[in-house]
Amino acid sequence: MRARHLTADNSQWDAPDYRIESWTPDTFLSRVDETMLIYVRAMQYPSHAGPQRAVSARKHADYVGFSCRVALIGEDNVIGFGYGYTTAAGQWWHDLVRQAIGREKAAIWLPDAFELSELHVLPSYQGFGIGRRVLTDLSAAVPNRTMLLSTPDADTRAFRMYSNLGFEPLRRQYLFPGDARPFAIMGSRLPLAGLPLAP
Ligand SMILES: CC(C)(COP(=O)(O)OP(=O)(O)OC[C@H]1O[C@@H](n2cnc3c(N)ncnc32)[C@H](O)[C@@H]1OP(=O)(O)O)[C@@H](O)C(=O)NCCC(=O)NCCS
Repeated sequence: MRARHLTADNSQWDAPDYRIESWTPDTFLSRVDETMLIYVRAMQYPSHAGPQRAVSARKHADYVGFSCRVALIGEDNVIGFGYGYTTAAGQWWHDLVRQAIGREKAAIWLPDAFELSELHVLPSYQGFGIGRRVLTDLSAAVPNRTMLLSTPDADTRAFRMYSNLGFEPLRRQYLFPGDARPFAIMGSRLPLAGLPLAP
């Protein structure tokens, strides 16, 4: 797909030709190290964070409702990816979020929720609509009632994108164990409100 990108000075740049693939859990498992390299570069984490995160990602591939979309260019080069699964009690993120958002919101948002675990685009390919496309393709394919995620609580491209797509903050400035940055926990009903209506 070729998208157009409007830059701040109003000149237009062609986005790279890319395509979106749906990956099965097995394909994801066989290429998890490639995706974790993108995670590390997009989040500006130290390189040892990739193999650490890969340990959790391998477990996630086994979770009920696992769904993954990947953006590729050229022969087979991954430039972005997003994945998640049906969030369930006993999972690390789920149990923390249940506490963080409180009983009332948990009762509304957590039943039949898809947890967007990761969504990242390589820095040199950001801002061309690729992350949004990965997310909207993924969200259109999952059968859950809601989608939940956590993202650094700051004026970032990710925060703006989620807000534009209809995600609302369920908790601000939340500190997950092991990460010094405050996060926003956000949720949206599915289908996403920011998507155009189907013809
Ligand atoms: C967040 C991320 C996945 C978005 O992917 P992307 O391909 O860069 O983003 P897109 O080009 O699809 O743009 C998404 C939104 O960002 C905003 N945006 C895009 N380009 C922008 C620019 N140059 N300046 C300001 N905002 C911009 C827009 O709000 C856009 O939303 P819209 O389509 O509703 O207008 C990607 O930027 C990324 O990997 N960031 C670092 C890691 C991260 O934060 N991941 C999410 C963790 S929860």
